[in-house]
This record gives sequence, C-alpha cells and structure tokens, in this order.
Amino acid sequence: MSDWRHEYDSKRQSAEEAVAAIPDGAFVLQGNAIGEPAALLGAVADRARAGGFKSVKMASLLPTKHSAATILSPDVADVIGWVSLFASGADRAAVRRGDAEFIPIQFHQVPRVIREYLEVDVALIAVSRVDDRGYMSLGVNADTNLAAIEKAGYVVAEVNQHMPRVHGSGWVHVSEIDAIVEHDEPLTELPVPPVRDEDAQMGTTISEMIPNGATIQLGIGGVPNAVARSLRHHRDLGIHTEMFVDGMVDLIESGVANGSRKKTHVGKAIYAFAAGSKRMYDFLDDNPGVEVHPVDYTNYPANIAKNEGLISVNATIQIDLTGQCCSESIGAEQFSGTGGQLDFVRGAFDAGGTSIIAFYSTAKSGAVSRVVPTLSPGAVVTTPRTDVHYVVSEYGAARLKGRSTRERAQALILLAHPKFREELSRSAAEFGYLAG
Ligand code: COA
Repeated sequence: MSDWRHEYDSKRQSAEEAVAAIPDGAFVLQGNAIGEPAALLGAVADRARAGGFKSVKMASLLPTKHSAATILSPDVADVIGWVSLFASGADRAAVRRGDAEFIPIQFHQVPRVIREYLEVDVALIAVSRVDDRGYMSLGVNADTNLAAIEKAGYVVAEVNQHMPRVHGSGWVHVSEIDAIVEHDEPLTELPVPPVRDEDAQMGTTISEMIPNGATIQLGIGGVPNAVARSLRHHRDLGIHTEMFVDGMVDLIESGVANGSRKKTHVGKAIYAFAAGSKRMYDFLDDNPGVEVHPVDYTNYPANIAKNEGLISVNATIQIDLTGQCCSESIGAEQFSGTGGQLDFVRGAFDAGGTSIIAFYSTAKSGAVSRVVPTLSPGAVVTTPRTDVHYVVSEYGAARLKGRSTRERAQALILLAHPKFREELSRSAAEFGYLAG
C-alpha cells in the first residue's frame, strides 16, 4: 500500500470525531455554496446543541441548504456566530437582524484576506473521492478553499462520491488534510431561475452585443441565465467566468462555446464555483473541456483582461440616474454581496471588451422602478458610476462610459419603465442633470 493510502486510512474518522477536535472559540471557514460539507456542518450544530462549545464563529460565502438546516439554525445561534461574506436566502435575515456579521469584499480579494487578515483556525471543506495518487478535487468550489486549507491549523475534508472531479488547479492532497470524513450525499441543486416576460427582449439585446468568438462571463441571478438562452445561434464563444451555471452546459454541449478563439485556456471553459443542477455537476466531472481555479486567479482583473474583448454580463437591483449600481442590497438590507461583479466590470474594460449591467426595469411586480433618481438610503454601491460601461433593460441598451451625467440620465430614463419616466425626468431636472 502506498504511503498516502496509509495516511488516508489513519485520518479517516466520523464527522463527530473530526468536529470534536475543533477548539472552543475557533474561527471556522466552511466551503462556500454547493461546497458545503453537509455531515460536518451537522456535527458542528449537534456539538453546539449538546453544550460542546461555549462559542464558535463560522463563515462562508453564499451559504445554502445544509448551512440553513444546521449551523444557521436558530436554536444554536447563541453558540455559533456567523460571518457572511456574501449573503443568501440562508443568512440574509440573520444579517438584517444584526445576529450575523457581514464582511464587504471583492471576490478576487477573499483569498488574500483569508491569508493575511482572518484568524482562521479551522477549514471544513467538501471534496471528491481520492484518486490513485492521493489527490481529491475541490470540484464545484476551488474559489477560496485553497487559501483556507493553507491558512487553517486544522483542515477537515468531507469526501463525497457525488462531488465531481474537475480539471484545473482545484486539487488537494491527502497529506494537506488533518481529518477525513466520508459522507456520500447528492450535491445541493439550485433551480434555474424562472423565465420572465422581459427575458426574450433583454436576451436579444444582449446577444446582439456579443460577437461570435467572444469570451463571456455571466453572473448570478435571472438575467445572466436568460442571456445564456439567447446565445444559442452564436459561434466560437469562450467562457471565463466566476460562477458556472446550467446555461453554460447547453452552450458547450451544442458547440456554441468551444473556446477555440480564447487567448488563454484555449478550448477550455474556466470557473471558480459552480451551482446548478445534477446534470451540470455530472457534466463537470472529469471533463477535459472545463477547469476550476481559485477566485484570485479567475477574477483577478488582470487575468480577466487577458481575454481580449471579454464581455461580462451581471445584474443589478437599483441604478441611479448617473449610473451608480446597487447590486447587493435593498436599501440598507444586505441581499447578496459584491461578489465578482466589479472584478469583471474592470477586467472586461481592461480587456478592451464590454461589461454589461442588465436589469429588469421594475421589481416587486412592477410596483417599483429599478432606475431611481438617487439610490435608496443605505443602498450599497457595487459598481461605481466611474466603472459602469453598458447598461441594458428590456427597453434597450445604452453606453454610459464616456457620457456626461446629462447623457446618462437621458439614456437611463429611456431604459426605465414608461410609467416612471416622467417622474424620473422631473428629478433629473431638479438635480441639474437635465435642463429644467
Ligand atoms: N427594490 C425593491 N426590491 C427589489 C429591487 C428594488 N429595486 N430589485 C430587486 N428587488 C427584489 C426583487 O423583487 C426580488 O425579491 P423576491 O425574491 O421577493 O421576488 C429580489 O429583490 C431579487 O431580485 P432579482 O433582481 O430578481 O434577483 P436575482 O436573483 O436576479 O439577482 C442580483 C440579482 C443583482 C441580486 C444578483 O445578480 C447579485 O447578487 N449580484 C451581485 C453579485 C454579482 O453580480 N456577482 C457577479 C458574478 S456571479
């Protein structure tokens, strides 16, 4: 038996045993999003319930259902403190109540912040089965896990047969892990956002802005998925993205996104984390056409910029008449996070390409306009007006870069729903953007 097999066997234990070694008072980083280690999180919550911790702090980006059911459960909230770096349905309410902390951050900077500023004691990660050389794949989440493994004094890997083994640089060797817990459970599936009435128009507008041969990034939420559907007739697209989504599987399988004209990672789609359906996770498994890399690689703006002409498409919640985009809060309520939006807005510009911030003109079933005279009190600027390039709603597209506040206000009013345009024009005049 080779050395790593002995090591693997000697490190193998139950989730309870592995979690028992977490020091009281520890700061624990757990895998993000679909990379949550389900059994380990369950064991942490059980230990908290049994009085096994006085206090422990846990953190991740985009927690999903396993976090919600375990460590974020209200009955352990007095013991398990939560630090969110990107809020989701699982922790949004706790952040709003002030029961959880939130760290504002650009996604590509998270690994350095882990290495330099966070006092990380423990990393709990999910990995694939081990291969013949002792390596396990980080699968759907290479994003911040390599930094967490490097920084934490105690690293526990939950080995799950359902985790895809993905090419790229998201590998961890048995020797880098302190405890191994085997637990097979299908990965959490995220539903594809429902198709909305505005999608066809918005998809057509954006697909006309994407030339054949372009490398694209599509962000999180409804609009980017709608765009993927509208690219079915394109040719030779490339994918360099932070989040891999179901729409990309269709583009690759149909030959539309073959990566043949990419300047880096030619012929390969690259991503930092993946979230979607089982079909997508199966597609990623041992697929030489796809690579996963840490987010300080995929989202580092200078790396994005190597993809000449890259086009990024991200969504926003609210945009003011000068182009400031709030894409992560509803007023002062943290809805999500900055994620990689600004990373890609900046990288796309430096690539000589185009960033597109796309939005449905209204929210709340048409009751509120997403184009507003000024952002709501407390709203967070995710993409500053100095960075915003193109904007798109179901009413069309406009370039804001290089345009004055007058030209921006004029353009944005035309992207707003017609029922809000008069009111927006009055405000624009009041603020001196338009002549009164
Ligand atoms: N006022 C009040 N409520 C608003 C609103 C507004 N201006 N805009 C949106 N909302 C509400 C919606 O009604 C919806 O509420 P519901 O869930 O109760 O229906 C909710 O906020 C989400 O809005 P929606 O636009 O449908 O969200 P989405 O799932 O399409 O995601 C973002 C859009 C902007 C939140 C998402 O893209 C994001 O988090 N972006 C920041 C990070 C990022 O872009 N990363 C890029 C790389 S992945």
